[in-house]
Amino acid sequence: MLAKSGQHPPEPSSQPAGPCAMVIFGAGGDLTKRKLIPALYNLSAEGLLPKNFAIVGFGRVDLNDEAFRDKLSRDIKEHTTREFSPEIWQWFIKRLYFVQGEFNNPDAYKRLSSRLEQINRDHSTAGNILFYLATPPSAFCEIVHQLGQAGLAREEEKRWRRIIIEKPFGRDFESARALNRKIQEVLKESQIYRIDHYLGKETVQNILVFRFSNGIFEPIWNRRYVDHVQITVAEDLGVEHRGLYYEQAGAIRDMVPNHLFQLLALTAMEPPSSFEANAVRDEKAKILQAIQPLPPAEVLTRTVRGQYGEGRMSDGTRVPAYRSEPNVDPNSNTPTYAAFKIMIDNWRWADVPFYLRTGKRLPERVTEIAIQFKQAPFVLFRKTPVEHLTTNLLVLRIQPDEGIWLHFGAKIPGPTLRLGVVDMDFCYADYFGAKPTTGYETLLYDCMNGDATLFQRADNVEAAWGMVMPVLDVWNALPARSFPNYAAGTWGPAEADALLTREGRKWRNETGHSVCAPKTQKILHKT
Ligand code: BG6
Repeated sequence: MLAKSGQHPPEPSSQPAGPCAMVIFGAGGDLTKRKLIPALYNLSAEGLLPKNFAIVGFGRVDLNDEAFRDKLSRDIKEHTTREFSPEIWQWFIKRLYFVQGEFNNPDAYKRLSSRLEQINRDHSTAGNILFYLATPPSAFCEIVHQLGQAGLAREEEKRWRRIIIEKPFGRDFESARALNRKIQEVLKESQIYRIDHYLGKETVQNILVFRFSNGIFEPIWNRRYVDHVQITVAEDLGVEHRGLYYEQAGAIRDMVPNHLFQLLALTAMEPPSSFEANAVRDEKAKILQAIQPLPPAEVLTRTVRGQYGEGRMSDGTRVPAYRSEPNVDPNSNTPTYAAFKIMIDNWRWADVPFYLRTGKRLPERVTEIAIQFKQAPFVLFRKTPVEHLTTNLLVLRIQPDEGIWLHFGAKIPGPTLRLGVVDMDFCYADYFGAKPTTGYETLLYDCMNGDATLFQRADNVEAAWGMVMPVLDVWNALPARSFPNYAAGTWGPAEADALLTREGRKWRNETGHSVCAPKTQKILHKT
């Protein structure tokens, strides 16, 4: 329940999840120490982990229970998002175990299985097991196959088995479909939780709540009132140490069928009949299917790709070109920037362009959805000093400056009619307090409770790949581009600006707007 204006919300009334054990494959890796363990730690601090709980790390690294506990005790101090509490950690650490083994070795799964039986007896985890695949994607099929062979994936009455699979889910339509088939040979769809960490963000979850819990927005959320929508996922970082992965992925595979399409689907979908997983995912599937397919000739006019060259970031730091990053081919043609114009063929959105963009080494880290409304008719203002009207803009700020911002015109006090542009700001931190999280808490908690609403269903994943494949195919078939075509620290290639300017629009590049910054006023009158 939300707080009254200006008040803090009541404490969450959620119950701890039911008894279970969690097995993390790839437990020696980065995701485990940076996100999963801090998220589980936060859940235990909130009283949301079951009392009957245990974590088993599984991986190739040479660790045993003791060494695993020591390693995580060091890691948690570095990666926790809240103050470290030795008492909570003491409770936590007694529930940590490690099984060493290769992902393709059936004996390792036998050891895992008997370890889980022992843990079930010691911690009364009711035989429920959550498997988390925090491994490179190349290991997904093998692990699921081995779990099946070892009988670990089998659900029985009153005992569940669920699996969370990290992205990337396939590298194209065919491989995503093949992966779905392979996994579904062993597991039912209801056991599979395909994660997209964007759905763990409170601001992303709020999109549906904002749209459908307020009577004033839904009636104008359509082609009659909306001119266009811009979805931006900009990052100031480069590829850092992920050159090997990124060379294979590039900006589209890394961000578009997953994070950007989730934002698009939540913004554009019809209201589901409930928050029940399939009700929400049915509506997402419909909107992804309604995206107009891009014939090859239109790929060239409706998409833009880019790669960053060296440049200077806003803090003055000089940064190298993508081609000079570690593990990147010096002649690489991998795009680090992608922009799309997407049209949705349905009654709500026909003729309303959705412009999507994402890129690395842009001037700042910002994710937002900007809904640009149509301009009001001018007739009333013809004989006044007002030169033009402002258009209303509603910005859902996903991160890092979480909030919602509405931009509108107002009369400037005084005897003549002068129009100013003003803003209304809602900032999450002001109302709900800043509670830093990893973004994985809700997703883990939901999976333990069997709620798949925030996870992707097989058809959603395939529909998203189906949309981006024509773009990847055309881009791959084209001769090498003259990369780099944008300097690090700028808003991407010039063609991306042209994508909008030729339609009389422009990207909203003033995203650095801070809710706490003093307000400036633009005046719309003739001088
Ligand atoms: C990941 C991508 O899925 O999302 C990264 O692989 C990207 O390249 C990251 O940096 C962005 O996530 P966030 O939560 O920082 O916006």
